Amino acid sequence: MQLRFLGVRKTELETALKGREIKGEDGRDVMGSRDQIDTGTQKQINEVRGFLRACDSLTVLTGAGVSAESGIPTFRDAQTGLWARYDPMELATPEAFARDPALVSRWYDERRGKCADCRPNPGHLALAQLQQRFEAAGRRFTLITQNVDRLHQQAGSRDPVELHGTLWLWRCTSCGEEREEREIPFPDHPPRCACGSIRRPGVVWFGESLPEAALAAAWQAAESCELFMSLGTSSLVEPAASLARVAANAGAKTVEINLKRTPLSTRVDISIAGATGELLPQILTET
Ligand code: OAD
Ligand code: ZN
Repeated sequence: MQLRFLGVRKTELETALKGREIKGEDGRDVMGSRDQIDTGTQKQINEVRGFLRACDSLTVLTGAGVSAESGIPTFRDAQTGLWARYDPMELATPEAFARDPALVSRWYDERRGKCADCRPNPGHLALAQLQQRFEAAGRRFTLITQNVDRLHQQAGSRDPVELHGTLWLWRCTSCGEEREEREIPFPDHPPRCACGSIRRPGVVWFGESLPEAALAAAWQAAESCELFMSLGTSSLVEPAASLARVAANAGAKTVEINLKRTPLSTRVDISIAGATGELLPQILTET
């Protein structure tokens, strides 16, 4: 199954986003007043805690929003998002790499440098803790991520399913040799393999198929969980954007936490507008 940007389903997204850009449902700046949580959000937090206490198998999907509070830009936030500043078709497709491998590898090398300076935030740490708690109680926990920064692993999460690959593994375009690259920056762009061929970042580009094992594991975890949480993702990129629906169709409760409304917000049991670095630690207390 190929990575595909849904493109903005205009009607749906505009309806969902209308008048709700930065402000929360009640027009309050969801990021501003961090200390007092309004009663509506508090009620939702308590409901999610109830779901977490009651479920024996939890599947969590994360996106760039979860790493935003660590200082890593998201993709689609206005002005700050990577795709607001760069054309993904010029940088995140096999055709772009074929056209200008030096440009593309330099761009991914810069992103590696940025990630290397960032640390996991309370959202990452809360998820690592949640995994520990679930597994210590013999309950199933699966973390699926679209992120390529490996901040989940740095926070202590074990074996997250990396749907879109990672920035830290680079692969030879001819012999296929793949290895972790921590030296920043690369002396040359694109970097070369011992066999002489050029190497590419181990991320999934638009139009490319997702790693089969990761996709199968993600689908299976969505189909068999009792609770599915979608965190910090715009739910615009397939096939990841379909996982919540797969879980709901299989009877799971579904929760979304995202700074802004998404096409998923009207389709889940609970959608909380807010920052994951704020809300996840709160949800975890008393769970
Ligand atoms: P996007 O940038 O599309 O969406 C990130 C979402 O996070 C937005 O809806 C923001 O409102 C929200 N957000 C920002 N800060 C947040 C915070 N502190 N807490 C909670 N939510 C916050 O990123 P993804 O959905 O991850 O693929 O994008 C999916 C894929 O598209 C990426 O994996 C990437 C991209 O092209 C590849 O490059 C392969
Ligand atoms: Zn090689």
